[in-house]
Amino acid sequence: MFKSKFLEGVDLSKSNAVYTLNNGVKIPVVGFGTWQVKDGEEAYHSVLHALKVGYRHIDTAEAYRNEESVGRAIKDSGVPREEVFITTKLWNKHATYEDAKKAFEESLKKLGLDYVDLYIIHWPNPYMHRPNWEVRNKEVYHAMEDLYFEGKVRAIGVSNFRVHHLEALLKTAKVVPTVNQIFVNPSDQQEEVVSFGEKHGILTEAYSPLGTGKIFELTELNVLASKYQKSIGQIVLRWSLEHGYLPLPKSVTPSRIKENLELFDFKLDEDDILKLDELHGAFGLTSDPDQVDW
Ligand SMILES: NC(=O)c1ccc[n+]([C@@H]2O[C@H](COP(=O)([O-])OP(=O)(O)OC[C@H]3O[C@@H](n4cnc5c(N)ncnc54)[C@H](OP(=O)(O)O)[C@@H]3O)[C@@H](O)[C@H]2O)c1
Repeated sequence: MFKSKFLEGVDLSKSNAVYTLNNGVKIPVVGFGTWQVKDGEEAYHSVLHALKVGYRHIDTAEAYRNEESVGRAIKDSGVPREEVFITTKLWNKHATYEDAKKAFEESLKKLGLDYVDLYIIHWPNPYMHRPNWEVRNKEVYHAMEDLYFEGKVRAIGVSNFRVHHLEALLKTAKVVPTVNQIFVNPSDQQEEVVSFGEKHGILTEAYSPLGTGKIFELTELNVLASKYQKSIGQIVLRWSLEHGYLPLPKSVTPSRIKENLELFDFKLDEDDILKLDELHGAFGLTSDPDQVDW
């Protein structure tokens, strides 16, 4: 069974558990996802509620168009800034060093912050820059490295990268990415890039940990839910943690937001983890980042 080395010394019975990134920065083991959370009331109240029930890690992006509401909720929550880990992402249209620096300043302004904890390249091979994706990634990552050296971000990383994208980036990177945020749930476990990341000290953040809701169609998971007296969502999120991924569940429903963080008072037996591993492909695999048309 795959168990990430990032789990070493991590106590998954503690709700304040953190992983340690390859640069020493600590990151809470569950993050709150905000894709498709509408800007305005929905994003504001969801993030406010998430912080109230104990999340200390929020995942947003320029492309989600909700950074302003996310930032306002963080400010109004009363939780000290240094206690919240905030990630945002550089969108695909940015292709040069200058673009990336400018995009970062805009995100920072929208969030109302003076630094972010983690800044990542959203996609490795944007449609509009497809012929020269290697150069584009090298340039924007160079800007991120400078933001890191300037102290404007505490960590940098990537998202949706496959092995060949990471290999290309590592040829010129001065700073090894701290994370690769990819689609990981029982239906797509992306072993190849996960093990490459593991070898290079790159933590796997599991986006769409509930398959953007598709996991709930797998009725066979009801058996595990009743065995552990937990919901299907909690079983699958705990599966993610037991492997040492960092799940980023999204919800705009207050009861689910709370439920998705109640993961630290039970653990899955190894044979049940293996049963979940066997669901690979159950509702299909994620898109190929070299083929996406965005
Ligand atoms: N880097 C990238 O390219 C990328 C791509 C996709 C996602 N992400 C990140 O990963 C986060 C999560 O992924 P995701 O948004 O695809 O979805 P997800 O977290 O896998 O699933 C969210 C869906 O499940 C529902 N849900 C959540 N908790 C539930 C529960 N306990 N019981 C029943 N239904 C539940 C939500 O409904 P309600 O909201 O209606 O409650 C929503 O429809 C994103 O928000 C984003 O931060 C990153």
